[in-house]
Amino acid sequence: MNEDQLKNTVNAMMAPGKGLLAADESSNTCNKRFEAVGLETTEENRRQYRQLLLTTDGIEGFLSGVILYDETIRQKDDSGTPFAEVLKQKGIIPGIKVDMGAKDLALHQGEKVTEGLDGLRERFAEYAEMGAGFAKWRAVIMIQSDDLPSEACLHANSHAMARYAALAQEAGIVPIVEPEVLLDGDHSIERCYEATGRTLKALFHSLKDQGVMLEGTILKASMVLSGKDASDRADVQTVAQQTVKCLIEHVPHNVGGVVFLSGGQGEEEATAHLDAMNKIGNTPWGLTFSYSRAIQNPVLKLWAEGDKEKAAMAYLHRGKANSLASRGQWSEDFEQNRPY
Ligand code: 13P
Repeated sequence: MNEDQLKNTVNAMMAPGKGLLAADESSNTCNKRFEAVGLETTEENRRQYRQLLLTTDGIEGFLSGVILYDETIRQKDDSGTPFAEVLKQKGIIPGIKVDMGAKDLALHQGEKVTEGLDGLRERFAEYAEMGAGFAKWRAVIMIQSDDLPSEACLHANSHAMARYAALAQEAGIVPIVEPEVLLDGDHSIERCYEATGRTLKALFHSLKDQGVMLEGTILKASMVLSGKDASDRADVQTVAQQTVKCLIEHVPHNVGGVVFLSGGQGEEEATAHLDAMNKIGNTPWGLTFSYSRAIQNPVLKLWAEGDKEKAAMAYLHRGKANSLASRGQWSEDFEQNRPY
């Protein structure tokens, strides 16, 4: 394991004022989002849409990295330059989603385990060759009923994620470990806190077991939130306080950095939460964004309407908003200048 290489990549990913764009939706998921806005679900359309995300001038001011899907890392821009190369020329690190998705966990109704370890060493070698500096693996944890998540689910997902992380580091690639506690359900924020805490405890236990270097690892966390159908949802301050508290209690101080998924929050909601956490400050790791929907939703809508210029403006606006939030410098006033 080349520890210096991994630490250098982590430092670049966590550069102050920057964050990650998650553009690693599988073709299936991307197609569903295309259908929702009336776009044709072709490979060429996916390439053209992602070309906007990867080539818009100015994104280098707020993005340190972009997570790509296998199809995208093999694609090129209109001039024939591979997308990974386009990003590197902007000083943005290309990353790659390597898991093969969450499948039903046998004998545990309603729970999932993420697959994708088979052949992963060989896939990492190829992705490293293509320029990937970091990777992502997402596990899905549900809390819709009182007895979830089961210890079996946490254990199976943590074990797989730790083995993935070890293989990534062996290949000189920084692993992002993403145990997403889903927003679905009507649970309280306390219930989310408890489930998130157990999830993180199981994950860091497995990472230690597998000898994963935490300084060369990034945690992609879900925020501690009330369920999306809860009747009395916690406010921004409470979410920020509870999330920071839960992370400080369960995440070792030497982890390279913490980035957040948006998980179905609204665009401004995700920005406000990140901002409020960074206003609290004093965390042992940087806290920044790694959003897909909370950045892309307005962009995709405008792109589908054929307004590419406005789509790019919306993209830069959300990027700048989240960049400010990653420094605790965003305010609602910033949204009054929203160009969409
Ligand atoms: P969302 O921000 O839309 O939750 O996506 C982030 C992600 O990478 C999920 O794996």
